[in-house]
Amino acid sequence: MSGMQALTNKRILLGITGSIAAYKSAELVRRLRDVGADVRVVMTEAATAFVTPLTFQALSGHPVHHALIDETAEAGMGHIELSRWADVILVAPASADFIARLTGGRASDLLGAVCLASKIPLVLAPAMNQHMWADAATQDNIKTLQQRGVLLLSPDSGEQACGDVGPGRMQEPEALITALASMFEIGCLAGKHVVITAGPTHEAIDPVRYLSNHSSGKMGYALAAAAIDAGASVTLVSGPTALTPPDRATLMAVTSAEVMLNTCLDITASADIFIGAAAVADYRPVAPLKQKLKKDDQTLTLQLEPTRDIIKTIKAQRPELFCVGFAAETEKLTEHAKAKLASKKLDMVAANLVGPAAQATAGTFGSDDNALQVYWHGGEVALPLASKQRLARELIVLIAQRFERQENKQESDKVVTLHQHRPGQRD
Ligand SMILES: Cc1cc2nc3c(=O)[nH]c(=O)nc-3n(C[C@H](O)[C@H](O)[C@H](O)COP(=O)(O)O)c2cc1C
Repeated sequence: MSGMQALTNKRILLGITGSIAAYKSAELVRRLRDVGADVRVVMTEAATAFVTPLTFQALSGHPVHHALIDETAEAGMGHIELSRWADVILVAPASADFIARLTGGRASDLLGAVCLASKIPLVLAPAMNQHMWADAATQDNIKTLQQRGVLLLSPDSGEQACGDVGPGRMQEPEALITALASMFEIGCLAGKHVVITAGPTHEAIDPVRYLSNHSSGKMGYALAAAAIDAGASVTLVSGPTALTPPDRATLMAVTSAEVMLNTCLDITASADIFIGAAAVADYRPVAPLKQKLKKDDQTLTLQLEPTRDIIKTIKAQRPELFCVGFAAETEKLTEHAKAKLASKKLDMVAANLVGPAAQATAGTFGSDDNALQVYWHGGEVALPLASKQRLARELIVLIAQRFERQENKQESDKVVTLHQHRPGQRD
C-alpha cells in the first residue's frame, strides 16, 4: 500500500469492543503489521465473546490484554504502561456502551482505564445498529468526545449484520488504515515554506488571443492543500484556472511564463521547497501585436521563441533549494523523466502520461484522477491511479521524506567538512 510509510514503526494500541464487527479487526491487525506498525491489542470482556484473544495474539505477535485486575499483567505491562507505550489508541470497533463509558470517564474495564490514563491521540471507529448510532444519547456522547479532541472515523452507511440498512457499519480496515496514516503524515512539513506553481500560462499573440494548453491546475492546487495540511506555509503561483485556491495559501495570480518565472524568483529566496506543477508554455510569440490581428485570406505564420525554463533557472540560482518537477509525456515516460531529473538538476520528478497513451489509465489534464511515476536520484516509486487529492497527499509525504533526508545529509556533510578542516587538528 503506497502512502502508508507513515505507519512504519508506529506503536498502535488497538482496542476492540463487543460488536459483531470485531471480526474485521483481525484483518485490521494483519494489514497494520503489513505496513510495518507494531500493534498491541486490548479487548473488552464482551469482545472476547465475538473473537478469541488467541486470534489477536497470533496476528499481533503479542499477548492480548483484557483483564483490568490482573496481577501478572500489572507485573508486566499494566494499564499505565500500555497507555505510555502507544503512539495512538484506535478503538475499532467502538461499541455504543464503550462510547458511553468513555464519555462518562469510566475506568471500570482495562480499555476504559487505558484511554483515561493516556494523553496520546484517541481514535474511535464506531460500529453499531443504525438506531443505536442515531440515538440522541450516542450522538450527544460523540459530540462531547469530539469536543474533547477524540477523533472520529464515522461509520459507513450500508447493510448491517442485523439486517437493517443505514449508517452504523464500521469502516473497512483499508479505509481505517488510510485515515490513521494521514494522522501521522500531518505535520511532516511543519514550519517549511513551499512554493508551488500550477495551471497553464497564456502567451499573448495579440490583446485578445493567446497560446496555451489543457492544464486545469487541479494537481497543483491539490498539492497546495496537501502541503498546508502537512503544516507548510504555501505560496501558490497560479496561471489562469477556474479553481478556488485553498484557504490558507498565499495566491499569486500570473498569466505568462515570463511573469511566472519572475514571481517565482522573488519568492523562492525564502523557500525551502519548490514544486513546479504548472504546465508552462515552452514557446511564446516573438512579437505579440499591440492591436487585434485582422483576418484576411492569407496563411499566417507565427514566429515563436523559447521561454526561459522556470525550474531550471531557479535551481541554477539556488542549488540548495529542494526542487520537484513534473513531466507530462506522451511516450517514453521513464526515459524523459530521468533525463529531466538530470538535465535540470532536480531533486525529484513526478511523471505522468498524457494524450492517447494515457487513455488506458484515465487521469491527466482536466481529470480528477491521475497516476504518477516518481523518480529521484537512486530511487523511484509508482503512485497508482487515484484522485488528485489523494495522490497529492502521497506525493507531499514522499517530498517531505526526501527533503528531510537531504537536509540531514547537508548537516552531516557540514560536520564532515568542519571535521576535515579543523585548524591545528592532528589525527
Ligand atoms: C450478537 C451481538 C452483536 C452486537 N453488536 C453490537 C454492535 O455492533 N455495536 C454495539 O455497540 N453493541 C453491540 N452489541 C451489544 C454489546 O455487545 C454490549 O452492549 C456489550 O455490553 C458491549 O460491551 P463492551 O463495550 O464492553 O465491549 C451486540 C451484542 C450481541 C449479542
